[in-house]
Amino acid sequence: MSARERMVRRLASSLGAIAVVGAAVACAPEYDTSWAPPAWPATGSIVDAAPPQPAGFAGVELVGQRIHNDDTGISARWGYLPGAAAVNSALDDVVRAAIEWQVGHSGVPYAPTPGAVGSELGDRGCRPSEVTAEASSLLPNENSTRTVVACEVVLASGAVFAERLRIVTGSGGGVLADTSTIVYGDLDSDTAGTAAALFAEPAASWTTLVEALRRDAGSLSVVPPAAPTPEQGAVIERAFASAVVSDGQIVVPLPEGFSVPELEHLPAWTPPTPEQPRWIAFAVNDVALSPLGEAVLAANGPFASPTSAGPGENHVACEIVPCVAMTLDDGPSTLTPGFLDVLGAHHAAATFYMLGIQAEMYPETVGRVSAEGHQIGNHTWDHPYLTELSDAQIRRQLEITEELLRALSGQPIDTMRPPGGKISSHVVRVADMPAIMWDIDTRDWADPDPAELVEMTVGDPVAGSIILMHDVQYVTAGAFDQIVAGLVDRGFALVTIDQMFGGTPPVGIVNHGRE
Ligand code: NI
Repeated sequence: MSARERMVRRLASSLGAIAVVGAAVACAPEYDTSWAPPAWPATGSIVDAAPPQPAGFAGVELVGQRIHNDDTGISARWGYLPGAAAVNSALDDVVRAAIEWQVGHSGVPYAPTPGAVGSELGDRGCRPSEVTAEASSLLPNENSTRTVVACEVVLASGAVFAERLRIVTGSGGGVLADTSTIVYGDLDSDTAGTAAALFAEPAASWTTLVEALRRDAGSLSVVPPAAPTPEQGAVIERAFASAVVSDGQIVVPLPEGFSVPELEHLPAWTPPTPEQPRWIAFAVNDVALSPLGEAVLAANGPFASPTSAGPGENHVACEIVPCVAMTLDDGPSTLTPGFLDVLGAHHAAATFYMLGIQAEMYPETVGRVSAEGHQIGNHTWDHPYLTELSDAQIRRQLEITEELLRALSGQPIDTMRPPGGKISSHVVRVADMPAIMWDIDTRDWADPDPAELVEMTVGDPVAGSIILMHDVQYVTAGAFDQIVAGLVDRGFALVTIDQMFGGTPPVGIVNHGRE
């Protein structure tokens, strides 16, 4: 058959088809004028450009945190927002997950561990350069796998705050993973969660996301995308966890290698790669937002930064960071204000076991100790050995002291320290409150050499240690700045007794934070 004949035949067959259609139309009823093509569901839009980097929120005062653990192989920096309980515990969850992830790589269980003397771990909190740096530059040049957590504030407006934690895993040989999780918090309602918590219905948002990508890749299908499989759900939750709120939109980065069956056959579909990352922007009306999401998108104006109530009130997670409890006995005295100055300068907290007879002499100092966020405990009225007293005498020693300290400080006085360390289970039962002892006895009352006092007080504590010192001793007052600085340098968080035990010390005789 010639080319011309082929053309004639094709033409004839087309005409035939038209004739058939024409006949069908002729027999058909009236057009259904109400019919309209199915409407596209509302979706996000593809933005193949990263959302703008946050302008920087240097004015937001965070309480810097840092761990450096060579056994498990994790280093992390993050910062707590004072007074924002929900934000801070959401940040703990992310850090804990990073630790668990690294434990999975190294096989070494995690325990909070201080560094050696001179570890220089006093420099804490976010270093913005680490969030934008090449991932490989954050990893130490070693063969074993390590996880590094970096942080930055990405939003601080109105009552809304957000902090990004970048989690990089790899070795000197290369980067295994580089992900981000952003914790958003609404301070008004004290709610917080990762960016995934901005969406009311993650599954519906998944559909919206796939739909937008499919349309962007040229699909004309109006069949709704399949519901996510559990694996896809996990992938998308990770992607949602690092969503950025920018200019009234929620911008979600697509995870590297992201794909679904609806997209794979589309010629114009371009999966994201490290070289060509992709983002999808949801307009506010396109997705159902949670109350937290609504609050975040509505945030505007200057940040209502919460103020710290003092280091003793700060959030601390002693199962993540190594904690040490400094306790100072027998005061208050004329030396106590100097101890408070040192603690304040290092953002450190302590517990003061006061005598009633001293508190009566220096009532303003009791008030200052409490106002600066430190804990006050009961060291009896005038320092008798409780094991040598009658039950009635024990009760009276503790009760009149508790009454005065509570009146002067405004805080509950619910732990005691027995004078001279003289304690028995009987005394504890009569006292009816935890007897807080110590595992690091500095013997600072025995006129020690100041250099030796510093050396042992800085060098001996382990995570959970309770240190016994006295804010009536000149040698201690003189060495205290070096001691606190040295403990901070080892990576310790200096905490109150209550903080050490998450708010409630155990009943009985307590020698250490991690019984
Ligand atoms: Ni004492």
